[in-house]
Amino acid sequence: MKEIVEVMITTEEINRRLDELAAQINADYAGKTVSLICILKGGVTFMVDLARRLTINVEYDFMDISSYGNEMVSSGVVKIMKDLDEPITDKNVILVEDIIDTGRTLERLRTHLSGQKPASLKVCTLLDKPGRRVVPNMTPDYIGFTIEDKFVIGYGLDYAQRYRNLNYIGILHFEE
Ligand code: IMP
Ligand code: MG
Repeated sequence: MKEIVEVMITTEEINRRLDELAAQINADYAGKTVSLICILKGGVTFMVDLARRLTINVEYDFMDISSYGNEMVSSGVVKIMKDLDEPITDKNVILVEDIIDTGRTLERLRTHLSGQKPASLKVCTLLDKPGRRVVPNMTPDYIGFTIEDKFVIGYGLDYAQRYRNLNYIGILHFEE
């Protein structure tokens, strides 16, 4: 099947929104140090581009989880493949995600991270698909863009590990 990409959010729109999000985070955490926790691999592009706009003190850590495989629908099983390098107890944590879809991944991560008793725990996602939520109360604190129920790729997001390097966000269509 042929894969066709339709542009949904341009590079310019992403950059403008990142400026706004960073300004908000800089204000909310003024004078503090924030631990950014990136969820591999989809969150990498967003996290580094956001972090470069932050003027507060920032630390990085990474987690890897598996939930999707190469499927386009969530398996519902979220497994932690790589945990944090450093404990987050008493730290101000922002979990950085590429997209919140069913909310299952976020639920699993929130439970895992809050168990370490951080001083605060917020969630920043590039994209939110609220129409697909199956877990209630999984509302992110910072949202880049709220989108419809479309399968999207680019700017970190993949289909079968491809398209992550696009500098815009596109809708993936399949044609015979
Ligand atoms: P959730 O557990 O259903 O919220 O799934 C979240 C994860 O599913 C994201 O971190 C992505 O890796 C993946 N995902 C959900 N929707 C999309 C999409 O439209 N494009 C690419 N990956 C997606
Ligand atoms: Mg992901």
